[in-house]
Amino acid sequence: MNPTYPYPFIDRILITPEEIETRVRFLGKKITEDYRDSEQLLLLGLLRGSVVFITDLMRHINRPITMDFMSVSSYAGAQTSGFVRIDSDHKTNIYGWDVILIDDIVDSGLTLHTVRKLLLDRKPRTLRTCALLDKTEKHQIDIPLDYFGFQIPDEFVVGYGLDIDEKGRNLPYIASVSLEKYRSVIKN
Ligand code: IMP
Ligand code: MG
Repeated sequence: MNPTYPYPFIDRILITPEEIETRVRFLGKKITEDYRDSEQLLLLGLLRGSVVFITDLMRHINRPITMDFMSVSSYAGAQTSGFVRIDSDHKTNIYGWDVILIDDIVDSGLTLHTVRKLLLDRKPRTLRTCALLDKTEKHQIDIPLDYFGFQIPDEFVVGYGLDIDEKGRNLPYIASVSLEKYRSVIKN
């Protein structure tokens, strides 16, 4: 099968829509069980990459939930700068809440580590972390990842919310990017 690629820089499909759906359903079921006694469950997503994941995940959680978002950036080209900036904070007062912090992908681990520390100061009842993708071999910081979708190799990926310079977020699958092709496309 030769799938039609919407972008010339897409290399190959790593995770299909069906595989994502199955795994997200499983995670939703697990969260439903883990939080069956929770009265105040907050899904706190990091913008913008986690939006597709969180909106699918929440529909598989069979509990009352609240949803909120923060916007953060760690910048310095393709490399993490070692500095995470909070661009927009969440609105909910999380004191006493059961919070699940949700991101699209863990790379160095710096983003989740920094936001997690910040949230702990705000005294939630419990705080867990969740990411759709985990580049385990890239971790620079040891962070507890309580829920994850897939472990992936060290490749740049797009789709299902993840982007390269804002491109590729709406692809229904996770695909690796050929950075060589991407650079040549961008130059032209
Ligand atoms: P970390 O702070 O190094 O763990 O990086 C996490 C953030 O980097 C994620 O929230 C993503 O926005 C971005 N990121 C890391 N790897 C990728 C990738 O392969 N595709 C798209 N975004 C990525
Ligand atoms: Mg991000």
